[in-house]
Parts: sequence; structure tokens; C-alpha cells
Amino acid sequence: MEADATKHLWWQEGIIYQIYPRSFQDSNGDGIGDLPGILTRLDYLSELGITAIWLSPIFPSPMADFGYDISDYQGISPLFGTLSDFDALVAAVHGRGMKLMLDLVPNHTSDQHPWFLESRSSRDNPKRDWYIWQDALPDGAVPNNWLSMFGGNAWEWDEPTQQYYYHAFLKEQPDLNWRNPEVQEAMLNVMRFWLDRGVDGFRVDVMWHMIKDEMLRDNPVNPNYQPHMATYEQLLPVYSTDQPDVHDVVMQMRHVLNSYPERMMIGEIYLPLHQLVAYYGVDGKGAHLPFNFQLLTLPWEARQIAAAVDQYEGVLPVDGWPNWVLGNHDQPRITSRVGKEQARVAALLLLTLRGTPTIYYGDEIGMRDVPIPFEEVQDPQGLNMPDKNLSRDPSRTPMQWNKSPNAGFSEGKPWLRLARDFARENVERQKEDPYSMLTLYRRLIKLRQQEPSLRVGDYVPVYSDTQLIAYIRQLEGHPRFLILLNLSHRPGYFKAKDSSLTGVVAIATSPDWEGTPVNDTISLSGDEGLVIRLT
Ligand code: NOJ
Repeated sequence: MEADATKHLWWQEGIIYQIYPRSFQDSNGDGIGDLPGILTRLDYLSELGITAIWLSPIFPSPMADFGYDISDYQGISPLFGTLSDFDALVAAVHGRGMKLMLDLVPNHTSDQHPWFLESRSSRDNPKRDWYIWQDALPDGAVPNNWLSMFGGNAWEWDEPTQQYYYHAFLKEQPDLNWRNPEVQEAMLNVMRFWLDRGVDGFRVDVMWHMIKDEMLRDNPVNPNYQPHMATYEQLLPVYSTDQPDVHDVVMQMRHVLNSYPERMMIGEIYLPLHQLVAYYGVDGKGAHLPFNFQLLTLPWEARQIAAAVDQYEGVLPVDGWPNWVLGNHDQPRITSRVGKEQARVAALLLLTLRGTPTIYYGDEIGMRDVPIPFEEVQDPQGLNMPDKNLSRDPSRTPMQWNKSPNAGFSEGKPWLRLARDFARENVERQKEDPYSMLTLYRRLIKLRQQEPSLRVGDYVPVYSDTQLIAYIRQLEGHPRFLILLNLSHRPGYFKAKDSSLTGVVAIATSPDWEGTPVNDTISLSGDEGLVIRLT
């Protein structure tokens, strides 16, 4: 019997939704979102139609980098709740037929983690080699030229033990030494701990950073550096990241996941395509989904995006499943990058390309970056490089649920200010509006979940020019779809090479199009996109 081509694994057919827990829903009035808060919003997520929730870190942490500095990998920060709140959340998510994924941060710990406290306590402590310690150069200088992603150099001097330690991020986030087998075993045990508690997978933080050059060679100067760029970009991180041996580590992590049914791992990786796809691993023994950030990093230009989609499809390994991302907690929101109208076109793109889409909370209601006054900036990246406008706070503001005080997010003062327009732009209001972003997202998600061609069908490029992108999604025995997107503000004209092309518009950025029969010549307004069911 032939395999059913419509059947795939949940993380292939499904849609992932990222929650930034500080900003989703507060339940205790401290102005910071928490797990019991998320629990009360699960019905919203299941009505939206998403498959899996990924939570940014919820573990005990001094919060120097808002939870990406973990001081206990097997607990829950009291800010977010307790382990029993977590268990209740897992049960409730599963009860609604959804999945729950956690953020795993294996590259570095907090400087307050007991492992680091021990490691720094003396040079002969058994955990000394769990981190990356180096002598000063003879003149007292740092061991090499590596820079921290958050500004300045990446080495911190430890006066009592007279050595430097390496930190790719803040000095409060020392990098673990993943060449040490004890470190590997400890982190694999962290994975087992959460898998045993029922989590369905992990998003692995900075996967491409985990192994560094054994000789710690200097990074070369970046010939394309411009002064407006982050200081980190002065060098090309060829020795500090993406080392060949990282794939052995990823394989070990995959091995742990494989010993549980249907669990999965996404790798956070910012690398050019050819390096990125190596993280699928040899024979698919690496990450299930190395995050594909092209839609975040490329200019919003039709020909570039079309070329990037085709290149990505072209370099994927045989069994590598694609994925697409429009936003996350480290990047400006899509609405702020391309504008409100184009954000609707972007939604069509995200939810009709082949591969698992990840939606960043709030993008489904078109939340915009909120300008945070200088004296309220919290993000260390913003604070450390104040003249470069690099703060990530604007895309991390509280979810806009309704028009009540603080948008229904909290009864206390929110940790970050809300968008000024929350009384108009919120879930409650958009739910009823057929022209809202939320309605567009809901309907696109529903169509994708219902139609095998859109969910798991092939991708066939049709056409692109300086304004338009067109492609078909198809699966034998099911209706085919033509997706036609105008990435410009001016009218655009599409003429198919295949003159027998006819169909009916199923979903459009402007609902007025819906139900309209179309054929091989279509005139689109600026900022318009159509999903056409072909007949
Ligand atoms: C990537 C995370 O997404 C980001 O928020 C964090 O600051 C760094 N990794 C360091 O963990």
C-alpha cells in the first residue's frame, strides 16, 4: 500500500506560535506575564488554529538578558510560576490537542548558575573546565580579538583566579565548554528532564555558537563593516561560531530526542543558506528545523524574496523539511519593517510557502514596534550600544487583548509600556472585524490546515518581477493553489504563460476579492495578494 502523501509529522504540517512569556498575559498583577496567564489564553490560541506553542525561557534567572541567562535549568522562575503551574500548562495544552516547546539555552549559563560559581571558585575546581578559561597574553591582554554580540570584547578578567573567561553575550552569560563530555551529559540530562515532563520539543538558542575553534584563533576583520552596524560585526565570526564539530553535538541532542516519540528540535541559526542547511545533519541526524530567517534578514523586494525561496528549496537536503519565520523577540516586527499593508501580504507569504511557519505573538493582530523612551529601555543590547538603535524592547511589548486598562494584559504596571493605539488595535476588536489582520490570519491558518496542497504540497515557482511573486502549491488528487503577491505599493499585472489557468480567489489581503473568478491575466492593486483555488 502506498503511503498517504497528506500525512506528515505534527511539526511538518503544523504552525508554531512563539510566546514571549513576560509579555503575553499577567495573572498576579506584577506587570510581568506568567504561566497561569498563558493558561487563561489557550482558548484564543486554539481558536487561532496554531499547532504548537514555543515559550521563550521560563527558568530561574537573574534576568540580565531576560531569561536567556539561566541559573537553574530544571526549575521555573518565580516570576512565571511554579513547576506545578508548568505541569498544569502542559496538560492543558495537550488537552486541546496542541504541543508545547521550550527554549533550551545550552551555549551559556548565568554567571550565578552553581556550575559557574564552582568553576570560578578556583583553578583546580572540578568544574573549572566546564567553561572557557584562558590565561592573559604576556602583556596582560585578552586571549584573542573575539567580540561580544552585546558590545565590547568577549573576555572577562577574573581577578581572584587570574584568568579570562569567554562570553559571546553578556559577561553575566559565560559560555559553557561543549568540548567537555561532562557538560554534554549535563545538558542532555536537562533535555531528558523536560521531555520526561511531557514537552514536545525545544528551540535551541544560538546553536551555531556552541563549539568554538580549539586554538581560539583571531577572527578576521569584516571588510564590509559600516559604522551604523553593531560593533560585533566589525569581525567575521569564522573561528568563534559554526565550527565543524558543532554537528557532533547537535547529533547527540537529536539522539536524545529520538528516544522519545515525535519530539523535535529547532535550531536558532543565523547563517548563509549553505551553512544553515548543514544543521539538518548528515542523513537527517541533526536539527529537525534549522530556523530559516531569510524573510527577516532580506530586503522586502519581490525579486530578492523570490530568489531566496527558490534557493532555499534548491539547497534543502533530500529529507530536510523547510520552515519560515517573519518575526521573533530579537528583531523588529514585520509591520514596522514593511508597513501595515505589506504585513498582510507577508502573512499570505508566511502561511502559503512550503514548510512550517512560525508566528511571533502579536503579529497576528499587526502589533507594531512600540517606541520605548530612552529612560525606560531595558534590553542590554540597547543599553550597551545606545547610539545604534539596537534595543529589542520595541518588539517585546505586552499583548494587546482589549481596550481595558493595560490592554487586558495586567492589572499592575506593565514591565514595558503598551502601544499607544491598543484601544483600537486589540484582539477583542479585531475578532469581529472581517477586514482585520486577525481575521486574515485566522482564515489563512484555517485554509492551510484544511487544504493538503497548502499544508504539505509541492512548491512550484511560476513568476517574479520587481513587484510580483507567483507560485503554485500542489498535491496530487487535491485542489491546487496559485499564490500571487504584490510586494510593491503600485498596481501590478500578472499574465500567466499557461493560458488555461482559471480559478476562484479563496483568500485575499482585500476580502472584496474573495469568490471572484480569475483567469490567466490578473491586475492587482498595490499591496495586494491573492490565494487562488485553481479549477
Ligand atoms: C538568542 C536569543 O534569541 C536572544 O534573545 C538572546 O539575547 C541571545 N540568544 C543570548 O542568549
